[in-house]
Amino acid sequence: MALFVLLFLFCHVFNLQVSSAPVSNVFKHLQTASKFWHISDLHLDPTYHVTEDHTKVCFSSKGVPALDPGVFGDFLCDSPYQLILSAFSYMKQVDLQPEFIIWTGDSPPHVPKEELSTDVVINVIANMTRTIQQFFPQIPVYPALGNHDYWPQDQFPTSENAIYDAVAKLWSPWLNPAAVATLQKVSLLIWGRHLNRQRTSTCFMQRMPFQLQPISGK
Ligand SMILES: *[C@@H]1O[C@H](CO)[C@@H](O)[C@H](O)[C@H]1NC(C)=O
Repeated sequence: MALFVLLFLFCHVFNLQVSSAPVSNVFKHLQTASKFWHISDLHLDPTYHVTEDHTKVCFSSKGVPALDPGVFGDFLCDSPYQLILSAFSYMKQVDLQPEFIIWTGDSPPHVPKEELSTDVVINVIANMTRTIQQFFPQIPVYPALGNHDYWPQDQFPTSENAIYDAVAKLWSPWLNPAAVATLQKVSLLIWGRHLNRQRTSTCFMQRMPFQLQPISGK
């Protein structure tokens, strides 16, 4: 039942508003905004590097030889930092004057559990946070944790831990104090269909420092 309610909440996200407690006015923006960016699934692979031995280009290919590795990546690898810089440079250059950015996480690479750790996950999220802040210092960012933003992935605990704590500090410039406190302790877990239309069959799990409540009784 709880799961159904959460799914329902997610599916009607545009009918929701933020409750009075840990407030962020992201949904107020949604009612009036003309433009916003949605950044998701950056999946930085810090091990990516072009080398003769294609099995060693990136840990995220899991030993499968990369097909045609270049500066901006390979089909079988997660994102090199250069690819992310290139995307952000374009976003900045086209200057569409977005009012805000929604960032739905998933910064670490798809690699076996043993290749990551709490520290690596925190470092990757910190890196992506700093990079977004450097590129878009003036734009409000509303961040959420994706299912890969924990170690081991998909295992979000309901209690305080090093990752929530680190992320709350990293994101404090973007969130108000109540939302930071929510992020450090208990916050809303949302299960639902992936936001990306090409992958509607996959489920995602987000941990958002906002609380949602229905506006209408639908
Ligand atoms: C992010 O990590 C890359 C290596 O993967 C590094 O070159 C870059 O300087 C880091 N950026 C920031 C802002 O920490």
